[in-house]
Order: sequence, then structure tokens, then C-alpha cells
Amino acid sequence: MAVDSKKLRLEGRAALITGAGSGIGRAASLLFASEGAEVACADLIPEAAEETVAKIRSEGGKAVSIQADVRLSKDAERMVSTAMEAFRHLDILFNNAGTGIRGMVHELEEEQWDTVIDINLKGVYQCSKAAIPIFLEQNSGNIINTASTFGLLASPRYAAYCASKGGVIMLTKQMALDYGPDIRVNCICPGATDTPRLRRNMSARPDPVAYEQQLFALNRAAGRLADPKEIAYAALFLASDESSFVTGSALVVDGGQTIDA
Ligand SMILES: NC(=O)c1ccc[n+]([C@@H]2O[C@H](COP(=O)([O-])OP(=O)(O)OC[C@H]3O[C@@H](n4cnc5c(N)ncnc54)[C@H](O)[C@@H]3O)[C@@H](O)[C@H]2O)c1
Repeated sequence: MAVDSKKLRLEGRAALITGAGSGIGRAASLLFASEGAEVACADLIPEAAEETVAKIRSEGGKAVSIQADVRLSKDAERMVSTAMEAFRHLDILFNNAGTGIRGMVHELEEEQWDTVIDINLKGVYQCSKAAIPIFLEQNSGNIINTASTFGLLASPRYAAYCASKGGVIMLTKQMALDYGPDIRVNCICPGATDTPRLRRNMSARPDPVAYEQQLFALNRAAGRLADPKEIAYAALFLASDESSFVTGSALVVDGGQTIDA
């Protein structure tokens, strides 16, 4: 497929992004809009989604906000129908909403396990299930999931998170197989990224500065945290025609974290 370098990379496309109110989701929403996409910004926290939409509109972009919980089928269906009402088509689904709770298996309460698996893994299923009928009808669609390097590597006391993200990687490959060639499905595996969630985790530590240094060292070749925009650019690549032959892949964007894994 030829790529027209004069065109904005997502011109004429409509995207639905979950977890759009913060961090990687907000950075991707702004970037996609700046590349010509109409963006439906979904988040559990309505004010957060609205703030992202306000930023997009202030830069001349088109966006709508949706308060929704990715765990719920009725919310997933409403996200898709709201995007369709606003834009009349839907081309890209970026399943990015996620959360993490630290703990070994015997430490995690069942409710904590369910929260992490339901948001990170079941959420991908719910939102994909809602969007796929439209993609099938259009004979085209593009799904991007946010996994993690912790879907590839084990991390101490992070059982539910690692399990959920490993699941996202395999679900990505499975969906790519089931729905190709018309629907491409890929995921991103970010390393430690400087988002509000990471900052919250950091400040909850007894020594946040020491923990920050540990995180810098984790992204071992870069020696720093990723900026959310650096992850958003990977999503943009996967969302655009530049990646037309890429499907079922887990794109690692980790400053070298997994170099010797
Ligand atoms: N920050 C990192 O270091 C890092 C590394 C690897 C992967 N990730 C993944 O990147 C994604 C984004 O993380 P982030 O760091 O930007 O986090 P963040 O907390 O800054 O943003 C996540 C957003 O998702 C929303 N959200 C949470 N649960 C939701 C639900 N049930 N329904 C709808 N929205 C919900 C939150 O309200 C929030 O606005 C997650 O999937 C996370 O696991 C992050």
C-alpha cells in the first residue's frame, strides 16, 4: 500500500481510544488528532476525558468524550455507538485503559486480581467485541492494544498485572489470526513511562527518588523514563498505513529494558 507523504497520517480516520484521560491515552489522543483523526476519548473519569477533548478542540481537532468502564459490555457498546453517531465511521480502536496492583498470588485479594484482569484483559475483549462488527461490515479496521514489557518479562510481586499483559499479547496475536487480512491487530509493549499512574506509584514508595532511579535503570539502554508521546508515536505507526503489513505483532518500546531477556 502506497503511503502519501503529503497527507496527514490519519486523515479521514476515526479513532476510539480508551483511557484517553491520562498518560499514554491522552498523548495518543492528541497525537492522533494532530494527524487528522477524529477521536472518541473514553475514560472512567468523565472530567479527564473531557479535558483531553478540550485540548484537542483548542488545537482545531475533532473529538468527543465518553464516560465509560471498559469492563462492561453495555459501556463498550455505548462507546462504539457514540463514536459512530459522532463520526459516522470507526477505523481505529486503541485499547489502552489499564491499571496495576502489586502483590504475589497469595497476597492479592480475589477482588484485586479481578480488578486488574477485568480492566486490562477483559476490557480489551469487551471493546473489541463491540467494535469488530463495524470493522467486519466495513471490511477494514485496526485494533491496537497496550500491553507492557511486563507481558513479556516477570516482575516481582506483580502477578495479576503480568498475567493480564501476557494475556493481552496472546489475545492480540489470536485476533490478528482470526480477523486478518481486513482487520489488523497489534499491541505495544511500553517500558516504564512517565505518566500520572507511574508518578502515583512512585510517590507511594518510602523513597520515591530511589525508586525513580530504579525505574531509570530498568529502561537500561536509555537510562530514563519514556515520555508518553514516545509510546503514542508507536501507536500512531500501528494506526497508520505505514504499518500496513504489520499485524499480530507486539511492538516493544522500552528503552532497552528487554535487551537481554
Ligand atoms: N506508565 C507505564 O510505565 C506503563 C508501562 C507499560 C504499560 N503501561 C500501560 O499503558 C496503559 C496506560 O497507562 P498510563 O501509565 O498512561 O496510566 P494512567 O493511569 O495515567 O492512564 C490510564 C487511564 O485509564 C483510565 N481507566 C482506568 N480504568 C478504566 C476503566 N475501567 N475504564 C475506562 N478507563 C479506565 C484511567 O482513568 C486513566 O485515565 C495501561 O494499559 C498500562 O498498563 C504503562
